[in-house]
Amino acid sequence: MMSRPLETLCYVFTILCLFTSTEARILGAYTGGPWKEAHATFYGGSDASGTMGGACGYGNLYSQGYGVNTAALSTALFNEGLSCGACFELKCKDDPKWCTAGNPSIFITATNFCPPNFSIPSDNGGWCNPPRPHFDLSMPMFVKIAEYRAGIVPVAFRRVPCRKQGGIRFTINGFRYFNLVLVTNVAGAGDIVRVSIKGSKTGWMSMSRNWGQNWQSNEVLVGQSLSFRVIGSDGRSSTSLNIAPFNWQFGQTFTGKNFRV
Ligand SMILES: *[C@@H]1O[C@H](CO)[C@@H](O)[C@H](O)[C@H]1NC(C)=O
Repeated sequence: MMSRPLETLCYVFTILCLFTSTEARILGAYTGGPWKEAHATFYGGSDASGTMGGACGYGNLYSQGYGVNTAALSTALFNEGLSCGACFELKCKDDPKWCTAGNPSIFITATNFCPPNFSIPSDNGGWCNPPRPHFDLSMPMFVKIAEYRAGIVPVAFRRVPCRKQGGIRFTINGFRYFNLVLVTNVAGAGDIVRVSIKGSKTGWMSMSRNWGQNWQSNEVLVGQSLSFRVIGSDGRSSTSLNIAPFNWQFGQTFTGKNFRV
């Protein structure tokens, strides 16, 4: 044990080391959370038009792999953008008039923010006002769990592991002194709470969250191959070494290793 002082220290300061040790990792896969209660409405058109773009920075949800299986989260659930990418199972409940028979489940990824409107009462239209947990679903998702005319229905929801095809995608935007990396298609917990970047000539550097799941670094990394490490809200980390070659360009997307599900 004494031959591995870092491990000994980590044993004592588990939480600290989770975020500092390059060896720390939590085995297994994210298992989700308990059932809770909320309400759901819908926004955008029947083809989910009007749900593209949004506060998570995912842009075109079709090309990013999220499709119409998406929702905007109220302040209480959005966590100032850190919940972007989290996956939920929802069922309509306690409303036999409007709920789809059999209360089928839908599975959605958080891709947007449903802003409060304090000029509307929270029990009569201000559904996304704090402290209400609320899902504003794309219309194609809403009509799976309830009748369109219902407008709003009570739901049961829980966090579930995100199932995604392929690896985590890193899209590098910005310019020479401003790297803005959009992190998408994250499996497992789905919501990333920390991102680090490493150039072939630098050590690991923590990125700061700019907005949604856009992470920023002001280091000049042009001409260096790039590695990324992400940490999910469940504390698990995934490292993708040298996924961008030295001649990467702004605007390009690179695919790294995803979390186990
Ligand atoms: C808030 O609600 C009021 C009343 O419906 C509406 O006039 C206003 O445009 C809304 N504000 C925003 C920012 O959506």
